[in-house]
Amino acid sequence: MNSKKVLAMAMVAMMGLSSVACGTKSTGSNTTTKKSAKASGSENSKKPVVWFNRQPSNSSTGELDSNALHYNDKTYYVGFDAVQGAELQGTMVADYIKSHIDSIDRNGDGVIGYVLAIGDIGHNDSIARTRGVREALGTAVKSGEDIKSDPVGTNTDGTAKSVQDGSIEVNGKKYVVRELASQEMKTSAGATWDAPTAGNAISTWASSFGDQIDVVISNNDGMGMAMFNGWSKKEKVPTFGYDANSDAVEAIKDGYGGTISQHADVQAYLTLRVLRNALDGVDIDTGIGTADEAGNVLTDEVYRYDDKNRSYYALNAAVTADNYKDYLDSTVPYKPVSNKLDKSAHKEKKVWLNIYNSADNFLGSTYQPLLQNYDDLLNLKVEYIGGDGQTESNITNKLGNPSQYDAFAINMVKTDNAASYTSILNQ
Ligand code: BGC
Repeated sequence: MNSKKVLAMAMVAMMGLSSVACGTKSTGSNTTTKKSAKASGSENSKKPVVWFNRQPSNSSTGELDSNALHYNDKTYYVGFDAVQGAELQGTMVADYIKSHIDSIDRNGDGVIGYVLAIGDIGHNDSIARTRGVREALGTAVKSGEDIKSDPVGTNTDGTAKSVQDGSIEVNGKKYVVRELASQEMKTSAGATWDAPTAGNAISTWASSFGDQIDVVISNNDGMGMAMFNGWSKKEKVPTFGYDANSDAVEAIKDGYGGTISQHADVQAYLTLRVLRNALDGVDIDTGIGTADEAGNVLTDEVYRYDDKNRSYYALNAAVTADNYKDYLDSTVPYKPVSNKLDKSAHKEKKVWLNIYNSADNFLGSTYQPLLQNYDDLLNLKVEYIGGDGQTESNITNKLGNPSQYDAFAINMVKTDNAASYTSILNQ
């Protein structure tokens, strides 16, 4: 066990002891005040909580934060299947290269070079996507069981340790596949998945080894579109992202290579639906796997539920030149779950909901507009709070009075920080 873990366990033990001590020491009138304070605190800690988009987990090891996922009996996580989506993204890029082999190698050196924009080295979705791309392109290197997901910086000579040269054979001809460069797109202040940083990176890469770049890949569309608009569109270099934001889908007709839909329309529904069900005190599957009285229901083609980790995962779909017309508006509610609930049977409730970074492309242009469509259908009055993407306290400061709300939907800045929120609900 490492020293950090030992320290953390010791602190937990001490916290346990001190709360026992408080409980036993209080006497007389003091007891009454303590009790009433405790009563209101425990009320908030019993309210429905949904974590979304950032699954409570250790940002170094990826290990899920089981305490946060089981915070109370009305706690859930809603996200999407990161591994399935990452495999799809990798395969989409590999298939594109194979089917465009005659034109893809721009300088004809026999090396298919790609650059990769990494969102957040501590975010499990970002890690999965980096791994999925490296796996599909043959550039993956393992450390123990896991594919390495750290950025290589620059690797034009193919000597980086976190990747290797892959190879692809088409029509009897062999090509080398090389990750020429990769970088975490993070601002100096600490905001991750940063699109302008990706826009700057592509100009630096292009000016130092431009014609070696045959493919541009990104962990998300926000960064992908910054690179596409800044460079690859005019150079006609296929660029691949993730999220199926409307602007990225639209750009497919102008040469954007493709993207992955993480079914945000299903995720946004699930985010609010689990709260609605918990507030109504009905079976959590209502309007999810089991049709509700308005006819809302999802099939297992679009989501799966992991009971052990109380996590709902939407399934992904590849969006390419073949099908992009079906995905042009990313903010439309998913038809099978777009029936409004009756207002008298499902009374309006107040929800506190935060977005970790108000500048995040996916959450801002796709997820939040969807939530705003569903909140109305589910009779939830949601207060939307935007963070700065850097500091948790910038958001938790806006949760000053949790007693005003019936339920909470939380999108952490860092996946390790669940306790910053639950400690407020425990007060
Ligand atoms: C999305 C990214 C987004 C990130 C924020 C990911 O699931 O694909 O676009 O920036 O979530 O947490």
